[in-house]
Amino acid sequence: MDLGTANTLMYMPGKGVVSKEPSVIAMLIQHGTMIPYAFGREAKMMLGKTPADIKAIRPLKDGVIADFRGAEEMIKYFIRSVHKKRSFFTRPVVIVCVPYGATAVEKRAIYDAVESAGAKAVYLIEEPMAAALGADLPVTDATGSMVVDIGGGTTEVGVLSLGGVVIAKSIRVGGDAIDESIASHIRKYHNLLIGESTAERIKRKIGAACILDNDDDDISMTVKGRDLINGIPKEILLTRKKIIGSILEPINQIIASVKVLLESTPPELASDIVERGIMLTGGGALLPGLEKVIGEATGLPVFTAEEPLECVVKGAGRVLENFGSLKHVLLHRD
Ligand SMILES: Nc1ncnc2c1ncn2[C@@H]1O[C@H](COP(=O)(O)OP(=O)(O)OP(=O)(O)O)[C@@H](O)[C@H]1O
Ligand SMILES: [Mg+2]
Repeated sequence: MDLGTANTLMYMPGKGVVSKEPSVIAMLIQHGTMIPYAFGREAKMMLGKTPADIKAIRPLKDGVIADFRGAEEMIKYFIRSVHKKRSFFTRPVVIVCVPYGATAVEKRAIYDAVESAGAKAVYLIEEPMAAALGADLPVTDATGSMVVDIGGGTTEVGVLSLGGVVIAKSIRVGGDAIDESIASHIRKYHNLLIGESTAERIKRKIGAACILDNDDDDISMTVKGRDLINGIPKEILLTRKKIIGSILEPINQIIASVKVLLESTPPELASDIVERGIMLTGGGALLPGLEKVIGEATGLPVFTAEEPLECVVKGAGRVLENFGSLKHVLLHRD
């Protein structure tokens, strides 16, 4: 299971990716208690649109559990939706990813939530390791591989070799921070208030990390929101160039974290990375121009994995499928 800030994916050995849903749950508040009401895509459509008795929440923040009850109910629903033969004897073994550097308390919360959702055994894998495995990097070889996983909540940069994370860095900047930058730019320069879903739609439609030197560069879209001055709904036209300008800061933070990690990479591994390049994974890797800006800032070849949104879950799935030979890449439970 890739329990992500934005999306939760499930992989079953022999079947591949069996579920991909936004990490959102809607709860119905009745007589002071919360009852799970909708999950995934259905719940995501409710974000920012709910009446007083329904609460649509994203139970993960920055890659870790922020709302325990919400996370537990959501995980339970996702496991049940793919694990139909449920009985006491067929409870699943689950490998779940955690951000590199998650605290003991944050890891504990994930173990507890997944166990109480019905798992027989729970193992954790660090996200850079899972992402690299899922992107088919030779992580168990005696060679350095560098992966940059740009998710919704965090960006994880890791250098891997011989089945372990040699060094890694996780920053709490990812797709969500990019959406927030877009929203705050529009608020500041266009006096228009938009919600997080609208900001994300703008990013996916016309967002880019830099000017791309092709016809797409002056694409634009109309955006609707509420005028901050008179409170009335209005619409404005936004261009790709404006969006590029508005997200410079989070993009630069991502680039800076890649550079910091490169600077502290042991020389033998650094020379492998110079040769093999940097692999981008996670939904944020789909932002046009990101390969280019990271390549220019580091002087290294940069590639985007196939199906970047699925790398982490596929990596965790590979460990389940080859448990005997790969179990050493999992985290030790302490
Ligand atoms: N085409 C696209 N262009 C730009 N960003 C995109 C695109 N598609 C998805 N994203 C962004 O990717 C992010 C989600 O990626 P992903 O599913 O890898 O994150 P996650 O694993 O849930 O989060 P985390 O790893 O931080 O817990 C979201 O911020 C989403 O807006
Ligand atoms: Mg992720």
